[in-house]
Amino acid sequence: MSYLQEVTNTDRPWSETNARLLVVGIFENQELTTLGQEIDTHLDGVISKASALGDLTGKPGEARTFYDDDRVVLVMGLGPRDKFDSEAIRKAGGSISKAALASKQTTLVVECFCACSDKPDCQALAEGLVLGSYRFNDHRKGDDDGPDIETITVLGGDAPDLAKGSVIAGGVCLARDLGNHPGNVATPTRLAEEAERIGGSCDMKVTILEREQIAEQGMGALVGVAQGSDEPPKFIVMEYAGDPGGRKPIALVGKGLTFDSGGISIKPSAQMDEMKFDMCGSAIVLGVMQAVSILKPELNLIGVIPSTENLLGAKACKPGDILKAYNGKTIEVLNTDAEGRLILADALSYVTTNHDLEYALDFATLTGAVLIALGHHTTGIMGTDEDLISRVKASSEKTGEKVWEFPLWEEYCEEVKSKIADVKNLGKGRNSGTIAGGAFLKEFVENDTPWVHFDIAGSAWGEKEKPYGPKAGATGNVIRLVIDLLGI
Ligand code: BES
Ligand code: MN
Ligand code: ZN
Repeated sequence: MSYLQEVTNTDRPWSETNARLLVVGIFENQELTTLGQEIDTHLDGVISKASALGDLTGKPGEARTFYDDDRVVLVMGLGPRDKFDSEAIRKAGGSISKAALASKQTTLVVECFCACSDKPDCQALAEGLVLGSYRFNDHRKGDDDGPDIETITVLGGDAPDLAKGSVIAGGVCLARDLGNHPGNVATPTRLAEEAERIGGSCDMKVTILEREQIAEQGMGALVGVAQGSDEPPKFIVMEYAGDPGGRKPIALVGKGLTFDSGGISIKPSAQMDEMKFDMCGSAIVLGVMQAVSILKPELNLIGVIPSTENLLGAKACKPGDILKAYNGKTIEVLNTDAEGRLILADALSYVTTNHDLEYALDFATLTGAVLIALGHHTTGIMGTDEDLISRVKASSEKTGEKVWEFPLWEEYCEEVKSKIADVKNLGKGRNSGTIAGGAFLKEFVENDTPWVHFDIAGSAWGEKEKPYGPKAGATGNVIRLVIDLLGI
């Protein structure tokens, strides 16, 4: 784990702070921010000279350094002033942390330049600063990497918003770490330990079911996937009651497949290592729950994580086998590599049967087809409730985490019906694979619970580097969207 834990702020002037790196901003029309102008005067106009000579254009992410007697001044390009919205502020924050890491600076004082925006957003600034500070270096010495950022102090700004942004970004960094850990580290047991750690830090009830209890509960689909591996599976339930007797609870369900070999329908060897990311759905649930455990919002939330490996062994489930899920529906397993929908079938039917929910969301690296359709930039969504889907889209607009809706029309739903069981875990061959996944899951959402499925097989990892994104690996995408949707 390596990222800045908290962004703090101070009311003191910059000259009374002792950070080595002072950060100010410049917009694309070459207009310096308020503190930028002050520092320019302090440095005898050297910044405006650079700008006049065209060496400082204010393009987003452009970073130039200047030198005072005992400190380095970083001027960060902020882009066009009229487009300096939350996402631009977040990107600027990310660029600052990345510039600091590259130049091996560990203590920063940052102008609250979001005050220059029509809509100052200190939460976005803190999110960008923390997310940009993230590196995954747990498993190597990394002598060349340079030191981590130790402190970032914002001059002025809104302290509660900065703290909130830090906590939310901390949840995203937790999800990135869990996603990046290989399958022999981020095991179902490790996910259960994380859930217990989060639950132990506040009043959150955490229940962990072991293999035998999972079977006793009638979760035959999870049992079926887990029977090919010796690694103990876990069914994790986290219950946060921040509004007892108030609103109905909301459920978050995350696919916690800690390594997906495909099972007997084995995957090709090339890039099979990427299947360590197959638990990124569960990492979203843990990231949100961690933020909730600290921010303690007034709502009720249930996190559910079915977790196992999908391996091949003497006991492994075979193509053609029929499994019975928690809600009693039988599933013909035509491809053991379509295992995510199997373990989610039990989790969705468990939580929608046992709780009267406001709504349920599930997050899953479910289909390679969503990567073909949308690449790494966007999450595929589909669901049963137009209003909830619109709210998801509205939150997506706010947080910059792109979603795209697929239709869950009747024709597609027919395609997961089986001739010898209630449903089958494949749709129509290679056609409309992402929708087939959603159509299958819909069979396990009980009690007409409003539900939206997030297929994060592309967006959870491997995205081209964003200013506040990781260089490579897990992204922690849609955690911020979910927190916005929850109204936190
Ligand atoms: N975990 C995979 C989906 C996946 C693919 C995630 C690429 C991340 C990157 C999932 O379990 C899977 O194997 N899906 C199959 C479904 C098919 C057999 C219907 C797929 O997409 O090929
Ligand atoms: Mn699979
Ligand atoms: Zn999978």
